[in-house]
Amino acid sequence: MENKVMEMVSLTKRFGSFMAVNHLSVTFEEGKIYGFIGPNGAGKSTTMSLLVGLMRPTEGKAYIMGHEAGSKEAKRWIGYSPEFPDFYRDMNCEDYLLYMAQLSDMSLQEAKERTKMMLEEFDLWDHRHDLVYKFSTGMKKKVGLAQAMIHQPKILLLDEPTANLDPKSRYDILDTLRRLVSQHHMTVLISSHVLSELETVIYHVVIINHGTLVLDRPKEEAMKMFHQGVLKVHTSDDQKLCQLLQDHPLVTSLSFNQEVHLQSEQMDALKDLLVSLCYQYHLRLHVFEEEKITLEGLYKQLMEEKDHEGNH
Ligand SMILES: Nc1ncnc2c1ncn2[C@@H]1O[C@H](COP(=O)(O)OP(=O)(O)OP(=O)(O)O)[C@@H](O)[C@H]1O
Ligand SMILES: [Mg+2]
Repeated sequence: MENKVMEMVSLTKRFGSFMAVNHLSVTFEEGKIYGFIGPNGAGKSTTMSLLVGLMRPTEGKAYIMGHEAGSKEAKRWIGYSPEFPDFYRDMNCEDYLLYMAQLSDMSLQEAKERTKMMLEEFDLWDHRHDLVYKFSTGMKKKVGLAQAMIHQPKILLLDEPTANLDPKSRYDILDTLRRLVSQHHMTVLISSHVLSELETVIYHVVIINHGTLVLDRPKEEAMKMFHQGVLKVHTSDDQKLCQLLQDHPLVTSLSFNQEVHLQSEQMDALKDLLVSLCYQYHLRLHVFEEEKITLEGLYKQLMEEKDHEGNH
């Protein structure tokens, strides 16, 4: 494993008899962005709390740069933006960031420099004298991220950093994040329910359900494994086309509604076949489009499989 920066080894958290996090083992590499996905109550926030050291595991361990999660050595490498940040009511934005900077072992001078940098980076400079609790949701999220990054951590844990934001604000936050992460080669674990947006930033997918690991793979690999593309076709005579393709060995699934939807393990060969059939039978092509798998599609497929398994 190249440049392992964080690791969960059979990490487990019980609340009474309830298993919130169930023997999770995942390894995180330097410089990569990991999407952390799962339904409400799956255990994402609890896992993050364990990694930050806000809670102790019931069983198993987590390591940050080789140090046990929760230790002082581990904490200095981690930046954390919680799902529900609790800002100090009487602090303005600048004072708050300065205060957070000074909580890590920084000189006052350095803390001031970092605060200025973060205020500028997240477009908060003009609001630096305003009280944080009066900020809009989007601005609070930015303060949360600025706070998480203030001490130049190696690892960022971001719990739903774009929840409840308008499209422009989400885009701005993710764009800033993407830039900062690539500049500083940080490792990020980011949870979100907006999979279409997560898909654009992550390299790796970690899915959990009921505290248990469901998937841990590079995104590209997962996309290939879990889905056969769908080819949507509409011609001047779709019924004829269906007849021709019905029992063809290249076709693994065929459905016909407004369009013909085809799946195949050999998509390129199927495309060639379609073109030649259209030519041969004088079918005019109106639609010929391959639908790409999305992270959302993959997630749904996986969860349906799990539900199905659970019912047996
Ligand atoms: N302090 C606690 N005491 C008891 N149960 C808890 C505690 N914290 C979390 N839980 C339970 O653990 C489970 C996992 O919660 P968690 O907040 O980690 O889920 P999540 O994946 O972050 O969900 P969401 O997507 O809604 O944020 C939930 O059933 C929750 O009720
Ligand atoms: Mg949560």
